[in-house]
Amino acid sequence: MNKSKLSASLFALALAAPLAHAHEAGDIIVRAGAITVNPKADSSSVKVDQGPLSGANLGGKATMSSDTQLGLNFAYMLTNNWGIELLAASPFEHDVKIKGTALGAANGKLGTLKHLPPTLSVVYYPLDAKSAFQPYVGAGINYTWIYDEHVGSEAQANGFSNFKAKNSWGMAFQVGADYMITDNIMINAQMRYIDIDTRATVENDAVAPGTRARVNVDVDPFIYMVGLGYKF
Ligand code: NI
Repeated sequence: MNKSKLSASLFALALAAPLAHAHEAGDIIVRAGAITVNPKADSSSVKVDQGPLSGANLGGKATMSSDTQLGLNFAYMLTNNWGIELLAASPFEHDVKIKGTALGAANGKLGTLKHLPPTLSVVYYPLDAKSAFQPYVGAGINYTWIYDEHVGSEAQANGFSNFKAKNSWGMAFQVGADYMITDNIMINAQMRYIDIDTRATVENDAVAPGTRARVNVDVDPFIYMVGLGYKF
């Protein structure tokens, strides 16, 4: 390529780049990527709430591992700057551990649970529609459906059974950015904070018949997603 051809194509590129515009009223944006849920998991101490030891405070706390799944966003632009967005994902699975209780056999891995955290948000894109770079902020409501709670084999051997955790409604906040690499395809990165609170209970007839313990957990995860998007 000679010099004049090169400068001509650079000039064409410079002209074309600002035209790779993003996000106008009526656009539908679908994003997919790797999404990680990293629970903060602040919890109350473990308390016995049923059975002969009811009221006993065992101390300690619950923790949860993080997990990465396939994340999906479905967004619809109401105006050039405002959109609504639904977060969906393949099911997350977390290990639940109990630490530092007065009952030695209760410490360690309690089990696993799965959840789906669909979140509906209103999203604001401050830059004008011609910008290829589209940062955004959003706020919305989350419903976390917790299911498939299982007591781990070691905890089961120590008499634990019937592990359950309650579903949660809460607020969700996010920041993110799209960068248009063509008129339709974008790179996306986003971060969310979701207020997820649950109450977990587990039974143990080996400690004393009819014993149930409970722990309140502020799961309150930070959620990270990176991926690609397509604008229809
Ligand atoms: Ni919370």
